[in-house]
Amino acid sequence: MQKIKENVIFVGSQDWDRRLFDELIPLPDGTSYNSYLVKGSEKTALIDTVDPPKAEELTAKLVRLGISRIDYIVSHHAEQDHSGSLPDLLVLYPDAKVVTNPKCKQMLIDLLCIEEDRFITVEDGQTLSLGDKTLEFVYTPWVHWPETMGTYLQEDNIFFSCDFFGSHLAASSLFVEDERVVYEAAKRYYAEIMMPFRGQIKKNLERIKSLKIDIIAPSHGPVYDRPGLIIEAYKDWAGDKVKNEVIIAYVSMHESTRAMVEHFAEALIEKGVTVKEFNLTKTDIGKLAVSLVDAATIVIGSPTVLTGPHPAAAYAAFLVNALRPKTKCISIIGSYGWAGKMVEQLAGLIPNLKAEILEPVLIKGYPKEQDFVLLDELAEKIVEKHTELGVIKD
Ligand code: FEO
Repeated sequence: MQKIKENVIFVGSQDWDRRLFDELIPLPDGTSYNSYLVKGSEKTALIDTVDPPKAEELTAKLVRLGISRIDYIVSHHAEQDHSGSLPDLLVLYPDAKVVTNPKCKQMLIDLLCIEEDRFITVEDGQTLSLGDKTLEFVYTPWVHWPETMGTYLQEDNIFFSCDFFGSHLAASSLFVEDERVVYEAAKRYYAEIMMPFRGQIKKNLERIKSLKIDIIAPSHGPVYDRPGLIIEAYKDWAGDKVKNEVIIAYVSMHESTRAMVEHFAEALIEKGVTVKEFNLTKTDIGKLAVSLVDAATIVIGSPTVLTGPHPAAAYAAFLVNALRPKTKCISIIGSYGWAGKMVEQLAGLIPNLKAEILEPVLIKGYPKEQDFVLLDELAEKIVEKHTELGVIKD
């Protein structure tokens, strides 16, 4: 039995094999779907369920633990990796009520066809007594859906945070063992899922400030028995500070753009800037997303293909736009054979970014001496901007 505290038990599943989430996000280290059982002196609650393929594992665990009655199933978030086993659980425990907020209730009805009379809705800050344990519901919208909330177990100072503070990491240990490993996994998770909602994350960090939290139990990844690790990391990632870093995300067909990238990267490195290059034909987009969390500048490199950007560069621009990093400057470099609208089209793909666009460097054919000078000038401009911004060196 994986016990967090007396009568607070982990009953979730590890998914060591999963390599893709939402058919989009690579999972190099698998993931977990965390479900928690809280047994009070009078009532028993289950906090979240598991991804549907793991439903049998969850029900078998509950049967093994001798749980013949569940009074409440708290549903923090309607996404199916946490809610998807609710229909099975409601059959196994016919008297159980789903406890959630009104928005999540409607989503669960829409997504899982759960009947209206199975719900109890709760407001932000409302409490529910299990006898000697009390659940306090904490609305944390937009981490990462509009209906998401958490639950604070008052007597044990445990905050069940759902996706907020989570990490895609399958692990046999219940609690964080290697903080560096979990930090990296949590940062990747933040980058891919939370970063677009940076403003809301700051508000949610404020919202939980008044809670005395000893343990954070998220819905993915290990449980934090030193919550400061992840709270401080979130403050840093969601905060406004950027680092003296340039991300170069590029693709090259016939080496012209690659030659530009190599020269440009060297010029930046010589000037003391950290450079992270991503060849988009080989890149794990999760790694690219992580690098976007705190870089001051992004440069997209692309050849001109059929008068526009290479599709891989367009995909990267689309992704950056969706993830809305706090990047301060952005530019484009690349080459063309005869003509095209690569710069205009790429610029049109990033309307969400509140970054200053630095003069792109677009050259004809393979770069020549005068083109390398333009790249040097762009590197110089970036250093100037970083200095003005007072960015920190990693
Ligand atoms: Fe882990 Fe948004 O579900």
